Amino acid sequence: MEPIIKIENLSKSYHQGESELRVLKNISLEVMNGDYLAILGPSGSGKSTLMNVIGCMDRFQEGEYCLTGCAVGQLNDAQLTRLRNEKIGFIFQKYHLIQKYSVLLNTMMPLLIRGIPRKHAEELSMEKLNMLGMNDRVGHKPNELSGGQQQRAAIARALVGTPELLLADEPTGALDRATGQEVLKLFGELNSMGNTIVMITHDLSVAQHAKRIVHIIDGELYEDGQEEQAGEKELPDKALVQKGESDENQEIPLEKPSMPGRRYTAHGRHFVARAGQFRAGVGSKDTGQSHAAGEHKLHQ
Ligand SMILES: Nc1ncnc2c1ncn2[C@@H]1O[C@H](COP(=O)(O)OP(=O)(O)OP(=O)(O)O)[C@@H](O)[C@H]1O
Ligand SMILES: [Mg+2]
Repeated sequence: MEPIIKIENLSKSYHQGESELRVLKNISLEVMNGDYLAILGPSGSGKSTLMNVIGCMDRFQEGEYCLTGCAVGQLNDAQLTRLRNEKIGFIFQKYHLIQKYSVLLNTMMPLLIRGIPRKHAEELSMEKLNMLGMNDRVGHKPNELSGGQQQRAAIARALVGTPELLLADEPTGALDRATGQEVLKLFGELNSMGNTIVMITHDLSVAQHAKRIVHIIDGELYEDGQEEQAGEKELPDKALVQKGESDENQEIPLEKPSMPGRRYTAHGRHFVARAGQFRAGVGSKDTGQSHAAGEHKLHQ
């Protein structure tokens, strides 16, 4: 099955005068149909930049990105706009509803942009608004709604064009805890109905609602719990090392380093770089102690 998102070695930089700021570094990511993925990272780590790239709102310089099999890097602006409209439903922290339009008209927007006749667009929008319990609010303007209701209207708008991907940026960021929980429950239900969701957040307790978490730190992606896999897969139990100054070889047991590969620590847990290549250290001549080459702390 073709992944919905397939990103390989993608990098993006911003240029300011002579200097270059590399914001996304060698990112690789696959999201399959039916996935519910959270991208978790602190402020300034590159979340919005990555969301803009995934959402075809911004370009990148290096690597490949295929959205439902379509190579995004090769499209012109008009083709990108169309792809975005057809394939992605966006949900933002601050809803991004058009204030002067009713809830119904806001929800119809992606369909009207697509050229769908008004009546049909209205029927499809009412269907989604009903599903989200917003049927008694369709004539309201956004500023006549609570935050939770505005987000539900925004979710109806995201769903109305039956996109292959729901892309949400801090969808609970502007809501109180209880309303945020309701929206997350709704995301869970939408995912069980078959919707593929990518949610961007800085909040671990929000990310934990997803089926899978990847971490973004300083522009690099890390998969949750990958360090165990790397250790089990690649580290041999024993290694031949040179004995002292002589030419003789000696077989020694290898200590499994607890953190092979590039790593960082967050939320009291350890993570290893997704693209980090793990190589088993075979013990130095001096100390006989094993070590993992390439081990590098990014954050503590
Ligand atoms: N247009 C731009 N030009 C130059 N640098 C930028 C631009 N946009 C973002 N950056 C830089 O890229 C880095 C990542 O920014 P980004 O907005 O993606 O972070 P974020 O993870 O979304 O942060 P937050 O959680 O605060 O929203 C930051 O260092 C930021 O200053
Ligand atoms: Mg951001």
